[in-house]
Amino acid sequence: MNENMTLKQILEWYVDAGVDETFGEVPFGKNISEPVSVKIPVSVSKPVENTVRQATTELAQANITARQNAREMCAKAETLDDLRALVEAFDGCALKLTASKTVFGGGNPASKIMLVGEAPGADEDRIGQPFVGRSGQLLDKMLKAINIDRTSCYITNVLPWRPPGNRTPTDGEIAVCLPFLKRQIELISPEAIVVLGGSAANALLETEEPISRLRGKWLDYKKNDGSVVPVLATFHPAYLLRNSGQKAKAWTDLLRLSKKIIQ
Ligand code: URA
Repeated sequence: MNENMTLKQILEWYVDAGVDETFGEVPFGKNISEPVSVKIPVSVSKPVENTVRQATTELAQANITARQNAREMCAKAETLDDLRALVEAFDGCALKLTASKTVFGGGNPASKIMLVGEAPGADEDRIGQPFVGRSGQLLDKMLKAINIDRTSCYITNVLPWRPPGNRTPTDGEIAVCLPFLKRQIELISPEAIVVLGGSAANALLETEEPISRLRGKWLDYKKNDGSVVPVLATFHPAYLLRNSGQKAKAWTDLLRLSKKIIQ
């Protein structure tokens, strides 16, 4: 700053220096014998924008690194127990900070059928097992209708940590945790996967189609080795609890699973 600067230049100098608040109407930095009443605009957004842009870039970079770490870590897991231990030790997803427990998959790892939900809810977070709350109870009833129980299927989620307040997971959280699900699929090697709800279906099938369009038909999940696992999407039990009129469609979907796998 120098003596010959105009008030506008002084103000710009402050803005460039990161000043984004004013405490009065008289500017500093220039020899002014008479106080000059100058209205300094309070909203000076440039430094804030820069900070936000930098933070966003750092966040995106951290997400890419976490995703890469998750992938590399998963490749080292030779067994489901290895994978569980690695997921429990993973620190690349901030959801772990607010969750009480890591909820890994449960059920029968030798099963031909794998069910995939979105993320643990409050009960799952407290107990550490997938689908043990109200949604889980409905899921048990749905499975019972086609003679399946927890000992004859493997159940997991896209995310092993509960999003706070059960909010929808972000794309970043899904991208970081997806390698855990993909490795579980490789280790379990199911003959069929049932995805419960749009979020899980979109994550696994890498599509943005709504669940109403995806459900009820056999779709393909391509593993890293190029082999294909048939995937059936259906409504999430939590959705069915709120929309019981859709239960008939979920029932039809499960019959399709039963026809393909059990008979
Ligand atoms: N909803 C899910 O998607 N998964 C659970 O484990 C429980 C509720």
